[in-house]
Amino acid sequence: MRKTHKITVSGAGSCRTPALIGTLMKMKDRFPVSKVVFLDKDLKRFHKIEDYCKLLIKEFSPETEIIVTDDLDVGYSDCDFVFCQMRVGQNAMRSLDEKIPLKYGLVGQETCGPGGFAYGMRSIGGMKEMVDCVRKYSKDTWILNYTNPAAIVGLALDMLYPDDKRIINMCDQPYSMMVSFAKILGVDPKTLRARYFGLNHFGWFTDLYDTNGKNYFDQLRNFLKDHDFKPYNAEQRTKSWLDTYLRVNRMMKCVPEYIPTTYLQYYFYADEIVKESDPNFTRADETILTREKEVWDVCAKAVGRETLGDLEVLTSPVFGSMMVEVAESIAYDLKNEFIVITKNNGMIDNFPSEAMVEVAGVLGKDGVTGYPFGKIKTFYKGLMENQFAYEKLTCEAWIEKDYTKALEALALNRTVNDFDKAKAVLDDLMEANKDYWYLEKRDV
Ligand code: G6P
Ligand code: MN
Repeated sequence: MRKTHKITVSGAGSCRTPALIGTLMKMKDRFPVSKVVFLDKDLKRFHKIEDYCKLLIKEFSPETEIIVTDDLDVGYSDCDFVFCQMRVGQNAMRSLDEKIPLKYGLVGQETCGPGGFAYGMRSIGGMKEMVDCVRKYSKDTWILNYTNPAAIVGLALDMLYPDDKRIINMCDQPYSMMVSFAKILGVDPKTLRARYFGLNHFGWFTDLYDTNGKNYFDQLRNFLKDHDFKPYNAEQRTKSWLDTYLRVNRMMKCVPEYIPTTYLQYYFYADEIVKESDPNFTRADETILTREKEVWDVCAKAVGRETLGDLEVLTSPVFGSMMVEVAESIAYDLKNEFIVITKNNGMIDNFPSEAMVEVAGVLGKDGVTGYPFGKIKTFYKGLMENQFAYEKLTCEAWIEKDYTKALEALALNRTVNDFDKAKAVLDDLMEANKDYWYLEKRDV
């Protein structure tokens, strides 16, 4: 058997945890765990899923020790891997991130635009607290971070801990798109390899082939010319997600050379998306009524049970598999290929070296090794320079508590692009987030 590891699930009360644990248990031979610590500052959240998660572990890996805690020191003092999926402010703040921008006619989304800005500012604080606590005990613990917005969190952590190679920022969006490509092409997703560049939630696929070297990129681009792009699990998706995928087709009608990631829609169809949004019912509400409810319902059936019995084993073929595969690749130095987030350092050679970019690369005992991409073309460079400036100013605004930098960031964001709106939405978000972050107006 492979060497076992001790893991801590940070933000354990997330509705993603049961499927993460289900996947971890199904993949237990690939990444065996001797201890799982469920850590959440708000244990009430975790209690709903506690019995279910414990039964899963008891069923598949009875020798694994289980600890449930809201104490950061207990959670981080003795672990090899942190699986981090915290949501600072929980759904209530996500809802405000989405609804406040809509008041000003701006995109209301959790990771893009002003909502992503506000969430980013909250996440940086929560993540810093976590990293400081983990590093108090060990410089070796791997921090696998799925906390959003990964672009801003990744950049801020790189600014705050520039030499820490064991903080790995991840996103399942490219992974999920690749599983969807595989379904269209009728091939096993595990055999597909991609070439890719961008920033997180702001990238493009530039090539696709399989492990035998057979190229599928033109076939896929041709397919997408006259077929709707659908996620691999279209039956389980809401209309808002299906529309998100369809806009990939539309973006490719304008610029067909690469395949854009889905969230680029917010920068090219902002007005349309705002018009279609319901300011009283956003994605936060939708997830509470759909994904969350489905998970809570399954977990509720586990309360008070002694064994898992005939209860469904929730798994996650994208988010969960990716987390476990990433941990596996690092733990056993497999150097498996993923789309990774990493410091640019010349990988995109006509882009700032200090940016955190998203490219194809491998994960192993030394962390992330991205593949050099070369030069990117003017269109993409222009978009990415603008987006990176927004991300950098956001991180600097948090670190320096600087209102003007925050205002500059929002005015630069392509979903805003207007000083009056930037100021109005910033002031509103600042008030709503006063328990999490504040900024100083220095020049007035
Ligand atoms: C994509 C993104 C994630 C995001 C997720 C869920 O997979 O890459 O960063 O968390 O979507 O979004 P949802 O709106 O369904 O909660
Ligand atoms: Mn993501």
